[in-house]
Amino acid sequence: MGKASVCFMTALFCLAMAAGMPVHGAVTMEPFGTTAEGQAISLYTLSNAKGMEVKIINFGAIVQSLKVPDRDGKPADVVLGFDTLDGYAAEHPYFGAVVGRYGNRIAKGKFSLDGKEHTLATNNPPNALHGGLKGFDKQVWTATPLEGDGAPGLRLQLVSPDGDQGYPGTLTVTVTYTLTDDNGLEIQYEAATDAPTVLNLTNHSYFNLNGAGNGDILGHLVMINADRFTPVDETLIPTGELRPVAGTPFDFTSPKALGRDINQDDEQIKYGLGYDHNFVLKKETPGTLTLAARVHSPESGRVMDVFTEEPGLQFYSGNFLDGTNKGKGGKVYQHRFGFCMETQHFPDSPNQPGFPSVVLRPGDKYATKTVYKFSVE
Ligand code: GLA
Repeated sequence: MGKASVCFMTALFCLAMAAGMPVHGAVTMEPFGTTAEGQAISLYTLSNAKGMEVKIINFGAIVQSLKVPDRDGKPADVVLGFDTLDGYAAEHPYFGAVVGRYGNRIAKGKFSLDGKEHTLATNNPPNALHGGLKGFDKQVWTATPLEGDGAPGLRLQLVSPDGDQGYPGTLTVTVTYTLTDDNGLEIQYEAATDAPTVLNLTNHSYFNLNGAGNGDILGHLVMINADRFTPVDETLIPTGELRPVAGTPFDFTSPKALGRDINQDDEQIKYGLGYDHNFVLKKETPGTLTLAARVHSPESGRVMDVFTEEPGLQFYSGNFLDGTNKGKGGKVYQHRFGFCMETQHFPDSPNQPGFPSVVLRPGDKYATKTVYKFSVE
């Protein structure tokens, strides 16, 4: 905790903190630099009694650090990222950020809604990716610490004006992070619009259950609760097909080492340069919170269960990491040093009538929850 920290909890908590006693269930705040436009950014720390601690900044609603105990109770930071704001303000592959308005790709940066064509920046040629040139990952959010019933939380809010990055409608977005006492990082996304639009919010954390920067993730055991995935073309746009995973490298229905089939001679693996695909989650009732994936590191014993109300999961094996990003503590993030489990609607849904709808209309309430829950085995 920095010297300039602000305590949001009860006087007792604050006194305990000042006395250097470990405090759980608290939210503290400290400065995290200033943007080029002169806006002050803060780092909020949420902690619980089980030794888990999450740090979030109000730039990009980014999860900057996530400390989770291993099988011996030893904590490590399991998400990739930077020590300072400069890293996040510069170009980087969305470490820890809330991605919006549209997570993943929209073909050729174009879609039609109610007969009107909308044009987005093709920031991942020839497609639009992750919200555009200045997506939600590069915005300053308004943060409110939440003390509530003991589970510390942070509410982040943003107003995206009509026409922002080419998307129609004024959109009001709230993302609430809560650290539960059973070691879950819960993310509640909410939004409303004043004109018809499309929306697909997700979190783009890169995990390494052995600790950020501590080697690759190829030995992690992965289970994905999906018996179909959405194959893509060479520009990573879904073809529209929902293809069975059975008999392909995409079969994660039983736990297998992430790297086992990652170099197979398979067209989809080649297009993705590994795994960079949306899985169609098995769900009896759409919109319910169910298990999407389970990842286990035999090395550290850490387990991450991903629960979501979303219909899809983009499983990305960090294929574009190449040692360019120097992260926290000076550690360099080499090829496949982290993986993402981006809970979402399917990529390019605005152009895919067969996919679940991503249209949000005035009067609709966008509300969706994802939980990353940690344990040991
Ligand atoms: C998503 C995409 C990937 C890549 C990363 C960010 O996971 O699907 O292709 O763009 O984001 O580098």
